[in-house]
Amino acid sequence: MTIDLRGGDWLDDNRSNWDERVPVHLASDFYDQEPLRRGQGVLDPIARAGIDRLHPNGLEGIRVLHLQCHFGSDSLSLANLGASVVGLDFSRPAVEEARRMATEIGVAPRARFIEANVYDARHVLPEPESFDLVFTTWGTIGWLPDVPEWARIIAWYLKPGGRLYFADGHPSAYVFDGADGPGGMPTFQYPYANPQPDILDDPSDYADPEVELQNCRTWEWMHPLDEVLGSLRAAGLTVDEFTEHYQVPWQIFPIAEPQGEGMFGWPAERWLPLSYEVVASAPGRNG
Ligand SMILES: C[S@@+](CC[C@H](N)C(=O)[O-])C[C@H]1O[C@@H](n2cnc3c(N)ncnc32)[C@H](O)[C@@H]1O
Repeated sequence: MTIDLRGGDWLDDNRSNWDERVPVHLASDFYDQEPLRRGQGVLDPIARAGIDRLHPNGLEGIRVLHLQCHFGSDSLSLANLGASVVGLDFSRPAVEEARRMATEIGVAPRARFIEANVYDARHVLPEPESFDLVFTTWGTIGWLPDVPEWARIIAWYLKPGGRLYFADGHPSAYVFDGADGPGGMPTFQYPYANPQPDILDDPSDYADPEVELQNCRTWEWMHPLDEVLGSLRAAGLTVDEFTEHYQVPWQIFPIAEPQGEGMFGWPAERWLPLSYEVVASAPGRNG
């Protein structure tokens, strides 16, 4: 199947799905916005530690591009830490809410939000080498058909020496789903390497177990680790850090147990990594 990155059923179906999720998420406990109103943040502990590691002196004056920012909870967390942030997401209600919240909490001059498909980014935000940090986390590339092009877009925006911070669910966990295995374990459902989309009709949502989405047809892609790391390298970036984790900030499987600070993990053994982090950097000014 050939996918047009700039339009088509994949984009329309996924956008309708995400548009419908926005009010559901805003009404949920999962997306608690109160810390933002107190000038604090809602970053999960993995991303927060990653940002502190990359910027031990804080984010004052740091220019951040947040790809697939949803309604800006993490973007505004970074703005509350002092960064100037541009958030990009293809969902109009998400972007409208992000702008509204930026104004409400008083960071609008440093937090701008753009409604666009990731693959249109260079048309709506054309300045290359304009960000110190590209940030994109949790549930992002699974919605994207073309990871090499995603990597080229990231490389385009990074200043010399600028860095990508990426964290997401681990593809070796994404091959499993459900609770039909022994003791409620998930069972093998999806091939690890599959260039074709999984076209799903799933009315559920991770933030609200009660909801039944009407726009439930989604197009999702598996991206093996070597595709992600290889694409970043092919785009000219150096992979500085690759870390596997046994926690993820949502209930990835019914058997996953809360482990504090919004994180979920296996009940006992570390059966498989559930998530991973990548830090990659653009060639430096002298590189
Ligand atoms: C799981 S959310 C990311 C959530 C983010 N980690 C958070 O919790 O705020 C995925 C986001 O990707 C956006 N998205 C999906 N496909 C996209 C595309 N092709 N271009 C831009 N945004 C997209 C959706 O609108 C949604 O806001």
